Amino acid sequence: MAKDKPKLPDQVPQHIAIIMDGNGRWAKQRGLPRLAGHRAGTDNLRRIIEACVEFGVKYLTIYAFSTENWGRPEDEVSGLMSIFDEVFERELTELHRQGVQLRHLGRLEGLRESLREKVRNGLELTKNNNRLVLNVAFNYGGRDEIVHAIKSMLKESMAPGAVTEDLVSRYLYTSGIPDPDLVIRTSGEQRISNFLIWQAAYAEWVFPETLWPDFGREELLAAIQEFGRRERRFGLILEH
Ligand code: FPP
Repeated sequence: MAKDKPKLPDQVPQHIAIIMDGNGRWAKQRGLPRLAGHRAGTDNLRRIIEACVEFGVKYLTIYAFSTENWGRPEDEVSGLMSIFDEVFERELTELHRQGVQLRHLGRLEGLRESLREKVRNGLELTKNNNRLVLNVAFNYGGRDEIVHAIKSMLKESMAPGAVTEDLVSRYLYTSGIPDPDLVIRTSGEQRISNFLIWQAAYAEWVFPETLWPDFGREELLAAIQEFGRRERRFGLILEH
């Protein structure tokens, strides 16, 4: 079916970050196991990636697995790991064909070797693509990222006077990637949950009620339109 031409605001966010929340509730509403919700959420990603390309978004960051998620029941954690494994196996060629560059935010250590290998291959295969940069925050925590950055600076015997905000940014997993303009958390929950706590300092946040597996092109467009109505001040006073 032909899609309607989207009514985009003058300023489309260059970088959108998403906390894909609500998979468990989506499954529960249907009497399905939680993993079925994660599978539906994974399928939904494809729609959102396509919509980002269509709307001209250049960077998309998704919160796929946090450092805290290891504390979930073992069967859910191992099920999620299998989903990641399958996705890297199955979707990589298609993502590459679409011109998506994959990046990983977080720690690769702690993941099983077969998965680490697939992630490394995916990063290598897609590194020269530039249609959309897809940052997958996976085994990621915002505080952990800052601790990691501080340790790296100390290891390099960085002089205190050399430490600036720009320098810290360069030691984060997102080095070289512009800060997110818009962060979306689906399912009505309104928390940051350790996601991009440094990078999202001046982002606009929206909290749609829709559960992640149902959050499609139209919902993404509505969030972008909402972003277009916001007045971003970056701590300043704007003249009218
Ligand atoms: C939050 O919903 C969702 C997650 C913890 C996992 C999200 C992961 C995916 C959608 C898979 C992405 C796959 C790749 C390869 C990037 P929840 O379980 O907290 O939902 P609830 O709050 O309704 O229980």
